[in-house]
Amino acid sequence: MSETQATKEAPADVTPEPTEAESAAVEVDAPITDAEATSHADDSAGASAERDVVVTARNVCIEYEVDPIVKAVRNVDLTIYRGEILGLAGESGCGKTTLAYGINRLLKAPALMTDGTVTFHDKDGDDIDVLALEGDDLRAFRWDKVSMVFQGAMNSLNPVIKIRKQLFDVFTTHRPGMTKVEMEGRARELLSLVGVDPDRVNSYPHELSGGMRQRVMIAMALALEPQLMIMDEPTTALDVVVQRGIIREIMRLREIFGFAVIFITHDLPMLLEISDRVAVMKEGKIVERGTSQEIYTNAQHEYTKKLLSSFPSLTGERGAFVRGGEDQ
Ligand SMILES: Nc1ncnc2c1ncn2[C@@H]1O[C@H](COP(=O)(O)OP(=O)(O)OP(=O)(O)O)[C@@H](O)[C@H]1O
Ligand SMILES: [Mg+2]
Repeated sequence: MSETQATKEAPADVTPEPTEAESAAVEVDAPITDAEATSHADDSAGASAERDVVVTARNVCIEYEVDPIVKAVRNVDLTIYRGEILGLAGESGCGKTTLAYGINRLLKAPALMTDGTVTFHDKDGDDIDVLALEGDDLRAFRWDKVSMVFQGAMNSLNPVIKIRKQLFDVFTTHRPGMTKVEMEGRARELLSLVGVDPDRVNSYPHELSGGMRQRVMIAMALALEPQLMIMDEPTTALDVVVQRGIIREIMRLREIFGFAVIFITHDLPMLLEISDRVAVMKEGKIVERGTSQEIYTNAQHEYTKKLLSSFPSLTGERGAFVRGGEDQ
């Protein structure tokens, strides 16, 4: 994709109108019990021994200590394999962001992880007990090993600071040995990687479109070549054409660098197109998980079926746009 193509926003008149179902989170009220939870392939044992795992989370429980207490994440097991895209789907408020923050040690009061373990399996062979990290070790872990594109991230760039400085800040904090020349080269390289003209280092965030700002946030998350990137609704606020461009870019970068992705969204059909495996969350629990193929062809849980049917057909214009690499 050329710079011009990548950075140009789609004109409004060619943008398909999102349907109500596409733009709104799905509300489904069926209560979930443990007995109902479906796992196509056992995530919590055995399987992880055979494949290269990057993060193992076990029995993660997170509460918001408010009155009354909100049990936002309840006994969640999650295994993330090296290089895979794991899709995390579920309606608004089901606990997706809270779980992601738990895995990345970003929780702040009143949030509290009341139980569970999170282990990061570093590529050099070390197992890191994420919950035991403190001080410099924690700071290094957060952006170096696992990075995050935050929900609504494109609005979180500092508006009065040029893109160059915001990228430099990542290097100054995490790669203090880098020279200014190296930082400049790397900042430009990162922008090119995400399809933004490298000269945009000279821009302020308000001079960039929403799609370009989101690409800059992805560049920042990519900056230190993390082993896992958590992307929390990275494209939800963007129009469908820009969304497709960015998702393709993420897929391409993943091919090049081999990082794993936890991709969070309530758009389950879109997740099925881009993910290797999908976990469906409801009311703080994972109610179904499996490969995208399994969930697509053989969803077991009523809630998963409802999420699937709440969006436009998979075989319609949205079908295979990412894996196929071309707009349909
Ligand atoms: N600071 C807070 N204090 C109290 N409750 C909170 C707080 N933040 C989140 N919650 C509650 O925790 C639950 C999970 O919220 P979370 O933001 O993780 O959901 P989500 O699945 O990411 O939703 P969305 O799709 O809307 O982003 C919700 O019930 C929410 O209201
Ligand atoms: Mg969220």
